Amino acid sequence: MNEKILVLDFGGQYNQLIARRVREQNVYAEIKPYSKMTCAEIRAAGYKGIIFTGGPNSVYEEASPHFDPEILRLGIPILGICYGAQLMAFMAGGRIESAAERSEYGDTELYVKRCPLFEDIPEKSHCFMSHTDYVSAVPEGFAVTATTPSCPAAAFADEKRALYAVQFHPEVTHTVYGKTVFRNFLFHVCHCSGDWRMEGFIEKTVEHYRRELTGRAGKADKAGKADKKVLLALSGGVDSSVAAALLYRAIGKNLVCIFVDHGLLRKNEGDFVENTFKGRFGMNLIRVNAEDRFLRKLAGVTEPEKKRKIIGEEFIRVFEEEAQKLGQMDVLAQGTIYPDVIESGKGDSAVIKSHHNVGGLPEIMSFEGIIEPLRDLFKDEVRKVGLQLGLPPELVFRQPFPGPGLAVRVIGEVTKEKLALLREADAIFREEMDRSPEKVEANQYFAVLTNTCSVGVKGDDRAYGYVLALRAVTTDDFMTAGWTRIPYEVLERAANRITGELREITRVVYDITSKPPATVEWE
Ligand code: XMP
Repeated sequence: MNEKILVLDFGGQYNQLIARRVREQNVYAEIKPYSKMTCAEIRAAGYKGIIFTGGPNSVYEEASPHFDPEILRLGIPILGICYGAQLMAFMAGGRIESAAERSEYGDTELYVKRCPLFEDIPEKSHCFMSHTDYVSAVPEGFAVTATTPSCPAAAFADEKRALYAVQFHPEVTHTVYGKTVFRNFLFHVCHCSGDWRMEGFIEKTVEHYRRELTGRAGKADKAGKADKKVLLALSGGVDSSVAAALLYRAIGKNLVCIFVDHGLLRKNEGDFVENTFKGRFGMNLIRVNAEDRFLRKLAGVTEPEKKRKIIGEEFIRVFEEEAQKLGQMDVLAQGTIYPDVIESGKGDSAVIKSHHNVGGLPEIMSFEGIIEPLRDLFKDEVRKVGLQLGLPPELVFRQPFPGPGLAVRVIGEVTKEKLALLREADAIFREEMDRSPEKVEANQYFAVLTNTCSVGVKGDDRAYGYVLALRAVTTDDFMTAGWTRIPYEVLERAANRITGELREITRVVYDITSKPPATVEWE
């Protein structure tokens, strides 16, 4: 087993980021809720180091997360961050106070002293702070290693016991030397070697599934007697595509992918998915062209939630029907990734979310087991694996696309004609964005066919056609998003081409609403 770091989750909002910062340094990190770990388990797991995350609580609150102070005596280096720093101080006998005048939020000047955690960091820099409580007296054996104008112990450490604490957040980019803090902790304090690599992940995962699913360690080719048949719902999205490519490398034709083309995909998308997986990779892919079926179900339906529900349910039905035709499939594979799996340390509800493209799992089918080859990876790591497996970059860096597809971008009733029109308009807009010589920083962009018509003039004639809306957002996480400041020249070229090439569209508007109050998709 590789060396690994435990990120002990106390409910902070940047916890995933902490694990990513560690992994960026080629050290494997896993997040565990504090309530699900004991000291004995931590000792047995052989972690090279532990990071206590931040959290929304105050250490003196009765219901606040605590941990067995024995953890400080395990001899494993620990880095406490924000609440984690206060908790470490509290457990070791320091004093924490709450004072509004000491509270800090945002960019703050940081003064560090020489210590292993702050090697290569200038005496004065900037960090990101977000706290009201502060450590007013560090525990015995600890020394203050950093201050800010209002925080007397912005960092403190007991170097002998390798216990380090920072009140600020090294994981957010506003902390200028945040990455250096992690590097120092991992390599100078925990003495990690940093040998965790994506190539290693691919090799190990492929070997693992070959052994588990084919009963042999060599190259998988023809199905043998003991071979398991694995079924995967391929959407053409990043996660299911990478999962498919990875499993294909392990078990070849014993992986069967069902690609339900609901007719609500973008221009050429269905063919692209088929050509990539069936054509280029030679995978066992079944494409189900179910457009008519979905359109029949959607006829006359205008209410957005109803549309989504119908599509989700129909998707499962089509998938099940196709799978039944295959006979017994032993194992179901899913493209679940790490952010879908992580439980928050805040609650004890232990809900593990399953990732579905559209709707839920096929319920009437029975499998020996479910495998999720990407469940330890973050999105950017999934993309790296995809590239290394030879998936085309346009697929690996694909923008998010909603499961219900263009049905939530055709406002009102969905018809074949409207879908065809939107597909063309959307393709033109995306083409203009992609080849723009001006810099455009959008994370997702697409066209929406509104249900409104307007009068225009085409040539010398009066025209009456659809109003098309363009949407582009800039965002880190899609939970909140700003509208993208697309250069006027790009908007103009897109609008000219759309109204010029598509007779049925008379007007193009640009959506300048952020999320919130709007959402990214219109429905
Ligand atoms: P909203 O519209 O909720 O979208 O602001 C946020 C992000 O999620 C995508 N989205 C979906 N993705 N199934 C998905 O897999 C869905 O039903 C769905 N609805 C919205 C949307 O494109 C945006 O990136």
